[in-house]
Amino acid sequence: MNTHINTCLALVLAAGKSSRMKSATSKVLHDLGGRPVIMHVLETLKEIGCTDIGVVIGKNSEDIVKTVAPHKTILQESPLGTGHAVMVAKSFIENNPGDVFILFGDTPLITAETLHKMWDCKDKNSLSIVVLGMRVLEDHTYGRIFLDSQGQVLRIVEHLDAASEEQQNTLCNSGVMLVDRILLLTLLDQLTNHNSKGEYYLTDLIALAQANGYKTGVVEASAQELLGVNNRLDLAEAEKAFQQRWRQGALDQGVTLKDPQTVYFSFDTHLAPDVIVEENVHFGPGVSIGTGVRIKAFSYLEGVSIKEHAVVGPFARLRPGTVIEKNVHIGNFVEIKKSTIHQGAKVNHLSYVGDAIVGAKANIGAGTITCNYDGFNKYQTIIGSGAFIGSNSALVAPVIIGDGAIVGAGSVITKDVSPDDLSIARGFQKNISHGAKNFRNRKIKE
Ligand code: UD1
Ligand code: MG
Repeated sequence: MNTHINTCLALVLAAGKSSRMKSATSKVLHDLGGRPVIMHVLETLKEIGCTDIGVVIGKNSEDIVKTVAPHKTILQESPLGTGHAVMVAKSFIENNPGDVFILFGDTPLITAETLHKMWDCKDKNSLSIVVLGMRVLEDHTYGRIFLDSQGQVLRIVEHLDAASEEQQNTLCNSGVMLVDRILLLTLLDQLTNHNSKGEYYLTDLIALAQANGYKTGVVEASAQELLGVNNRLDLAEAEKAFQQRWRQGALDQGVTLKDPQTVYFSFDTHLAPDVIVEENVHFGPGVSIGTGVRIKAFSYLEGVSIKEHAVVGPFARLRPGTVIEKNVHIGNFVEIKKSTIHQGAKVNHLSYVGDAIVGAKANIGAGTITCNYDGFNKYQTIIGSGAFIGSNSALVAPVIIGDGAIVGAGSVITKDVSPDDLSIARGFQKNISHGAKNFRNRKIKE
């Protein structure tokens, strides 16, 4: 059990230039599991009960301001180092109660569990600073954490400032810290930029704290959890780790994944126990699926709620605003957008259903299209319960097909059809006796 986290506040640093991303978009706004990288950090903070969050941003960051709203943003005019980023947030710290978590906006996989561990460590050992460390064996440019024999952190040495024997130390700084507010407000102004980068290092706070008689400690987490997204490869690695976590979570909760590695989740995907997901399925944001549902292979879903025991796919595309009620069957090559398909209805083959309501137990034949758009506006199609739409029909919206009505195959329906009526709207068939034979004979003579 985690101890309760009392009032805390958090600074999320995101004023870096993202140059290695080679993108017009800041690295913290790139998509990870269906939402921007930085939102993962903010949501994890919310999860531990930390709601006073200040995001430190650089110039021209209006898009970050919009994304993180209503969280407060603090402008750091020029990026003079992580310590400087905290200095510019001093009045934010003064104005909000609690000890201070400092995180990076580009480190999205950090878990609530790890932040809890830091809080517990600080609490139990009466520490003033807890840094979050990780073991890294391969080449890297992280700061190194040095401990004394009691496990107190004595200092953090940045890569560029580390002597070669210091570089042998595998305990590295993730950048995340939990700092006592009084210590932070007292010592922050004493940071200097006398180092190889000429930057104000937040990491120097450790040696300062030690020199002033405060206790400091370290909590370790895996390097994968603390992965920083600096370039496209990091982003791909982070996505892979995110998906791996979600696949494991789904399996743990009683979801069958036929081939877990080929199923992709979003940050808010909700699958009830006993959902079966076949291979190569993509869940975009906003998907919620009830128990007993089967999602067949190669389906793409976003913004859709699917109720118990429905069957979807293979090769189905369900778009935002769609509700699939119980026992509905959605088959292959069917696209559904912003529509409600009521209980037991079937849309089994090659159809487009958009801006529509389909009544219970209605049967939508192969190739049915709701013509919902005239190039300017969208219109609604309502299909009554028990209605039967013959194959290859076009329903030109706005249009209502009454309960129990039948539409003949190949119809183009432009007028409402009353309940239980039969409507046929197509060229009628004419059979010419021996016409084919006569045609061939004429052609051969020619
Ligand atoms: C920092 C740590 C290093 C740690 C590493 C982990 C310092 C001095 N060093 O180094 O010990 O191993 O992270 O990844 O803290 N930022 C600002 N304003 C600034 C500078 C940075 O907001 O003026 C933000 C960046 O956007 C980024 C974070 O702070 O989110 C870290 O900055 P970065 O320059 O990447 O620090 P590192 O050199 O990687
Ligand atoms: Mg960095």
